[in-house]
Amino acid sequence: MVGQDKIELAKKKAAEKAVEDNLQKNMIVGIGSGSTVVYAVQKIAQMNRKNDLQLKCIPTSFQAYQLIVENDLTLVSLDQYPEIDLDFDGADEIDANLNLIKGGGGCLVQEKIIASNSTKVIIIADYRKNSKLLGEKWKKGVPIEVIPMAYVPVMRKMEKIGGHPVLRMAKAKAGPLVTDNGNFIVDVDFGRIKTPSELEGKLLAIPGVVDTGLFIGMTSKAYIGQQDGNILIKP
Ligand code: A5P
Repeated sequence: MVGQDKIELAKKKAAEKAVEDNLQKNMIVGIGSGSTVVYAVQKIAQMNRKNDLQLKCIPTSFQAYQLIVENDLTLVSLDQYPEIDLDFDGADEIDANLNLIKGGGGCLVQEKIIASNSTKVIIIADYRKNSKLLGEKWKKGVPIEVIPMAYVPVMRKMEKIGGHPVLRMAKAKAGPLVTDNGNFIVDVDFGRIKTPSELEGKLLAIPGVVDTGLFIGMTSKAYIGQQDGNILIKP
């Protein structure tokens, strides 16, 4: 099997197993963003069709909204259901303590809001994302959502705390990427992050920062598809 096929199979297996193990009837379900979540939504839709699970789904992004609608799942909002039973989401990196880097796909603020209001957060990923320390495998930096008018002073302040910030540019459009919330993303390389909660505190203290792609202490379980077809479940 070639590399990309192996990665896709690992994502699919992890997503399907995570859904099989955790999904129950009548749940309010958070739907994350990214390429791995697509497999989870397909599995959720299949189980929902087969067993009439009466699920209600809340999106974490425009992509998740479309996935819910296209898969004939019931779309609801956080206003109606502020307590979510189960959230499925992907990650760019997962450390030994199940802290995460997220936002590689440009979505993080709504993902964090949904995760923080969920009883259980289930992370699904392939073997490339598993590491001891954040920043060990994910080399593109910590994605940070920033209010557009503040991006220059915010980037300077990030340099002062030891980061190397880069404004993320859009593809197929001149200029910066604009998030679902109308903000910019700055990717900040901090090398290996030994104390992620300390770093998170410093970043959130900068006026203009909306939120960061560091998800600390939020993960209940991570399902990580391996190269040999097995699934590593942490913890
Ligand atoms: C979206 O911005 C992210 O937080 C994703 O959850 C993360 O980038 C993982 O995406 P993949 O499943 O595509 O690797």
